[in-house]
Amino acid sequence: MIIAVDGPTASGKGTIAKALAAHFGLPHLDTGLLYRAVGRQCALNGGDPDDPADALAACDFPDRLIADPELRSEETGGLASRVSVHPGVRQALYEFQRAFATQSGGAVLDGRDIGTVIAPEAEVKLFVVASVSARAARRFREMQAQGRGVSLAAIAADLEARDLRDWTRAEAPLVAAPGAVLLDTSELGPDAAIAAAIAIAVRSIARF
Ligand code: C5P
Repeated sequence: MIIAVDGPTASGKGTIAKALAAHFGLPHLDTGLLYRAVGRQCALNGGDPDDPADALAACDFPDRLIADPELRSEETGGLASRVSVHPGVRQALYEFQRAFATQSGGAVLDGRDIGTVIAPEAEVKLFVVASVSARAARRFREMQAQGRGVSLAAIAADLEARDLRDWTRAEAPLVAAPGAVLLDTSELGPDAAIAAAIAIAVRSIARF
């Protein structure tokens, strides 16, 4: 069984995907981390994330980079959003994600294009959204907990810039897959969002 969880930054999709994986006993892949690793590697190479050749060269990152805490920073998130517009980068990361999705026994993947491109055949497709203000407040609390000094206004502006890039890019834009169930977490805490996601998954599986 494949569970595809898509949505914008800080919508709660990562928390939901992890909880669904634990609930159904499936492996989980946060595909945003792959794009973050490419963005970070591009910066380490001294490359330009807006240049397709520099971004493509950064796809050849060492496995250990995935564990780098710097991948979680807002700065790396911005770099990830810039390298992810290049079709060559998306193609370079496709096989790994596709193999993860189709492993025997199934998997949960979260990202932007799981239900549309990576695993359109997924039995469960969730599109998780939340208002910019709810997402900015969540990200702000996360950053504060990590001791990172960023202002709420800067986070909201960054989220909006990243949303715009994700929604308007030509290749695999952020869009709800056909048949995806929308889950708005603006007014939900983590437990309520997880419970709603499990209920949607159970209904989708019963219907499939
Ligand atoms: O989900 P996360 O915020 O970690 O993703 C970082 C960036 O990577 C996103 O803003 C998006 O541009 C890109 N991304 C993508 N496709 C995915 C996952 C992430 O384009 N499947």
